[in-house]
Amino acid sequence: MSSWSFFLLLFLLQLPHLFSKQSLPLLLHPLIIIPGQGGNQLEARLNNKQYKPLKQECGGAMSEDGNWFRLWKDCSILENPLTLPCFADQMQLHYDPLLDDYSNTPGVETRVPFFGSTHGFLYKDPDLLNQSSYMAILVNRLKQIGYKEGENLFGAPYDFRYGLAGAGHPSKVGSEFLQSLKELIENASKLNNNNPVILLTHSLGGLFALQLLHRNSPSWSRTFIKHFIALSAPWGGTVLEMLIFASGDSMGYSNINPLILRKEMWSLETNLWLLPNPRTFKDKPIVVSKSNVKNFSAEEMSEFLNYIGCSHCVHPYESRIMPMIERLEPPAGVPMTVMTGHGIKTAETLIYGDGDFDVQPEIVYGDGDGLVNLVSLLAPENEWNGLQELELLKVIKLPNVSHEGILKDDAALTEVLRELHQVNSFVVRSSSAVV
Ligand SMILES: *[C@@H]1O[C@H](CO)[C@@H](O)[C@H](O)[C@H]1NC(C)=O
Ligand SMILES: *[C@@H]1O[C@H](CO)[C@@H](O)[C@H](O)[C@H]1NC(C)=O
Ligand SMILES: *[C@@H]1O[C@H](CO)[C@@H](O)[C@H](O)[C@H]1NC(C)=O
Ligand SMILES: *[C@@H]1O[C@H](CO)[C@@H](O)[C@H](O)[C@H]1NC(C)=O
Repeated sequence: MSSWSFFLLLFLLQLPHLFSKQSLPLLLHPLIIIPGQGGNQLEARLNNKQYKPLKQECGGAMSEDGNWFRLWKDCSILENPLTLPCFADQMQLHYDPLLDDYSNTPGVETRVPFFGSTHGFLYKDPDLLNQSSYMAILVNRLKQIGYKEGENLFGAPYDFRYGLAGAGHPSKVGSEFLQSLKELIENASKLNNNNPVILLTHSLGGLFALQLLHRNSPSWSRTFIKHFIALSAPWGGTVLEMLIFASGDSMGYSNINPLILRKEMWSLETNLWLLPNPRTFKDKPIVVSKSNVKNFSAEEMSEFLNYIGCSHCVHPYESRIMPMIERLEPPAGVPMTVMTGHGIKTAETLIYGDGDFDVQPEIVYGDGDGLVNLVSLLAPENEWNGLQELELLKVIKLPNVSHEGILKDDAALTEVLRELHQVNSFVVRSSSAVV
């Protein structure tokens, strides 16, 4: 064989490779991740003239001379019985009925670090790294398939204490977040040849993303949003939130007295948003008294809030939250995938002795992802009739996957990545939409 025919043969053998290589690279649409409640870091600094510490320690222990420090999440602050009440005081929000809005404790200034990147929510407490991994494993997998931070991968952390409110009510912090998110989406698209963005959310992040889509025009959404993938979103709230309101929360620490954080939990606007929603839970008794004094369903939330002593929560709940949660509307024109774990025991009914909410209740469990009840996770499937047939809604249920397991378990991540691959491969044929 002459040398040129040898090279010709070699070339011919390579041909199929050359072709397949050209069709192989997948166009990765820019991806923006929005974390859940408590998923990203928050920083604070204290104005020593305005801030009146509960105790002497609060000023000194958590910030020297007005420097920024990590208010959330720093396990060393939470695990220290001296600094825990300071944390509760500094983390709290305050509702002002005259302004009809929430604000920080006076003298406590807060900020969300790393907006635009995933850096602020890889780990819950960055000092503990893998022991407190939140999105680190997911982001690693995304990088393996070609996503690059700041190029086609972005993150939208936010001050998860502040929520949003129904029409006509100000919500300064939450609205500013939606505005920054909108800008980030437009920037990410511009940076990627005007390709539309994929939104990937976890938990409460999904509720914010849906509000963003509702608060912008369908034509804006169609221009900038390719697809919305919501992981473990509590569309109808969660029963556990009623437990937190009634009896506080130890946030998973065995040595924290849950009652110390009860007032702080009451004050967070997003906690009101996450209370079990009457639309989803209807009149089923959730807080049940063994001595048969009084039961409360999601439809009796205002009565419940009054009963547990959170009467100041009733007005913002009724005026700001209820109008926002009375309906669950799909995003106009944006195809959506709802992914959720199930098959993990999840609090469904809370049984209290004789109305003493300082004692942790007996819990009757039902199906869910360990944190959110299945009926809430699957609300879009139950309430958005016909969207699945139109391929505007896809629901993926992952057995034996927990609320955060969906971000960490190997099998669950494989499914998330598979769905992302599908979304990236799907080419919209604008002409076929008319047919
Ligand atoms: C932390 O997690 C990463 C990614 O999963 C892994 O590569 C690394 O070995 C882990 N480090 C430790 C100290 O466990
Ligand atoms: C979007 O891009 C503009 C122009 O580069 C920049 O000024 C702005 O800060 C960016 N906003 C966000 C949220 O990324
Ligand atoms: C409260 O609910 C329990 C369990 O559903 C029921 O047995 C009981 O009769 C109810 N009590 C009241 C006062 O409605
Ligand atoms: C569910 O998941 C847990 C932890 O990942 C595992 O130990 C258990 O075997 C699984 N159970 C089933 C029925 O698959």
